[in-house]
Amino acid sequence: MTIRLPDQAALAEAASALEAGRLVAFPTETVYGLGADAENPAAIAAIYAAKGRPSNHPVIVHLAPGADIGRWAREIPDAARKLIAAFWPGPLTLILKRAAHVPAAVAGGQDSVGLRCPSHPVAQSLLKTFRHGQGGLAAPSANRFGHVSPTTAQHVQDEFGTGPDSPLAMVLDGGASQVGIESTIVDLSRMDSHGPALLRPGQISAEQIAAVIGQWPGLGGADAPRVSGALASHYAPRTPVVLVEGAAVPALLDSLAAAGKRAAMILVGARDAATTAHSAIALPSEADGYAQGLYAALRSMDGVGADVILVQRPPQDIAWLGINDRLRRAAHGSEGTLTTLGLA
Ligand code: TXA
Ligand code: MG
Repeated sequence: MTIRLPDQAALAEAASALEAGRLVAFPTETVYGLGADAENPAAIAAIYAAKGRPSNHPVIVHLAPGADIGRWAREIPDAARKLIAAFWPGPLTLILKRAAHVPAAVAGGQDSVGLRCPSHPVAQSLLKTFRHGQGGLAAPSANRFGHVSPTTAQHVQDEFGTGPDSPLAMVLDGGASQVGIESTIVDLSRMDSHGPALLRPGQISAEQIAAVIGQWPGLGGADAPRVSGALASHYAPRTPVVLVEGAAVPALLDSLAAAGKRAAMILVGARDAATTAHSAIALPSEADGYAQGLYAALRSMDGVGADVILVQRPPQDIAWLGINDRLRRAAHGSEGTLTTLGLA
């Protein structure tokens, strides 16, 4: 497996590999995707195997701009048409009722299908080349199950290795993903019974969705379609992650240092609060910039050999909803860390 710049030759090779049932990782504006032919059940099975993901977790189908949605969904509610007009191409996934010919494997056996048209130019070029723009690429985030999503080609390589037994034919390098967290997911497959539902928050907010469809999306509920991003522990580094209030940071760092423990820190805005951390990164104090850098920051702080990654709790308002959702999941299961380290 190699990282390739997305020139004509690499795009043509990537499309042929995909048409032959192989896996190719490609950049999108949100995170890198692990792509396979959405109409080839064996190729979809290869995604599940490569990720180590349970096969009942549905995968998003990526479509070229202007693709015929009617090939993929058997009902297209008005709300879907409006959201597509407003936000595609872009970081919004719609869950619709699955058309009969779409393999059940792509939907984890459910009756629905997740569709998204990415805005990244390399994703678009690949989708236009693959089956002359008439196909779909099933693509979950290109990471092993439960791990942090990749936002660069190097992250994908770090996940899957370069050896001859790598499950990937290649990774197309389209630079760092601009949005940085996964797409917003809106379920429109149960409009009659439940109305629209927000299954995963992302850069496109519930408020923006409500403004377009004239109705606030509800929250998924127990019988909502399964979303693996909704598992409590998802997007997690290997080092425990603990969320802390900014004001508590200096004292906590002092206690960790006194206990002989190494702390890595992810801060909001200024770095100066963390002079005593073993390693620290400051992310921008506005939500879009923070989201863009978040996964790279988690990965790099995961690599410094720290005992804990302290993440300064960012603002809690609506613009930060997707970020706080991902941070909560990254921190899940690490609640007892400070006690274990002899603190708190
Ligand atoms: O931004 C993104 O959405 C990225 C890029 C690569 O496009 N993809 C991504 O894929 O995050 P993944 O598989 O890591 O997460 C997709 C989510 C999953 O939680 C999956 O369960 C949900 O979308 N999903 C896909 N199809 C679905 C369906 N038919 N019903 C319910 N949920 C679905
Ligand atoms: Mg994922």
